[in-house]
Amino acid sequence: AKYTIVDRETCIACGSCEAVAPDIYGYDDEGISFVLLDDNKGTEAVPDEFIDDIVDAFEGCPSESIKIADRPFNGNPHAFE
Ligand code: F3S
Repeated sequence: AKYTIVDRETCIACGSCEAVAPDIYGYDDEGISFVLLDDNKGTEAVPDEFIDDIVDAFEGCPSESIKIADRPFNGNPHAFE
């Protein structure tokens, strides 16, 4: 399984992640991204059909704010750094 979370401290609201993975990422009122699945806790496994999308988002984020791992983040974007 894959898990994803957004580092909201470094997200610059560029708008790329929702464009490539609209089922997974959304924006708050200020355009800062979060994971829709689990309110950005990184605890909900990403459904298989969206894995390619989150990899695209990961690769396309200009501030490296999209995190992906094989284990749950439990709310901490830096859990595996
Ligand atoms: Fe933010 Fe990166 Fe998405 S800057 S809006 S997390 S592509």
